[in-house]
Amino acid sequence: MKPLISLNNIKKEFPMDGVVVKALRGADLEIKTGEFVAIVGPSGSGKSTLMNIIGLLDRPTKGEYFFAGEEASSFSDNKLALIRNSKIGFIFQTFNLLPRISALENVKMPLMYKAKTKEKERKNMAMEKLKQVGLEERVEHRPNQLSGGQQQRVAIARALINNPEVILADEPTGNLDSKSGKEIMEIIKNLHREKRTIIMVTHDLKLAGQAQRIIQVKDGKIIKDSKTK
Ligand SMILES: Nc1ncnc2c1ncn2[C@@H]1O[C@H](COP(=O)(O)OP(=O)(O)OP(=O)(O)O)[C@@H](O)[C@H]1O
Ligand SMILES: [Mg+2]
Repeated sequence: MKPLISLNNIKKEFPMDGVVVKALRGADLEIKTGEFVAIVGPSGSGKSTLMNIIGLLDRPTKGEYFFAGEEASSFSDNKLALIRNSKIGFIFQTFNLLPRISALENVKMPLMYKAKTKEKERKNMAMEKLKQVGLEERVEHRPNQLSGGQQQRVAIARALINNPEVILADEPTGNLDSKSGKEIMEIIKNLHREKRTIIMVTHDLKLAGQAQRIIQVKDGKIIKDSKTK
């Protein structure tokens, strides 16, 4: 079977005031459908840059990136947005919820691109996902009326709304206390049991150990790739 994600000598450079920051210096990586992969490495090593490229949020400077067998550099911005919205769910350290609207409205947001889906159905879909993360009692709360762990659950419900096959999580428990962090990890492990592909950046080696595979990034390169069990 073809890998779901395949990076071939990926480089990413950011021009900054006359100097060039080399965030990725030739990364090779293959991830199969259904894998649970942790990405670890020091601050500034290129983990988020790598996630942004895998998630089609950013384009590499050089190298080839195949997503589901298709080379992404040929994709238009529209096609990138379409794939992101339908196949990839994002979870961030800072939750990235819209502050002025309710949990329910936040979760419904990615459905706004689906002109054909009726409002009632959107609401039902969002309620189902909020239930899945155990937040059905808090759907009218705005983000600042929720705890960090609850906000992250809303963000996960939002990431799940289009039933993505891939979940990208960049330090999903980084802003949470250890109890909420554990609860979020349980949700992520359940998503893996549901056969989704999970790619998670973490500083926490204990959390990384719960993945099937650990990829170590240093100075913009993948220096180690090992199985945990
Ligand atoms: N948009 C950008 N413009 C300029 N430089 C950037 C940009 N994004 C990242 N960088 C630089 O690229 C390098 C890698 O950054 P990246 O955010 O990928 O690191 P990271 O491994 O995620 O770090 P952390 O663990 O602190 O989140 C850093 O030197 C960073 O300063
Ligand atoms: Mg980062």
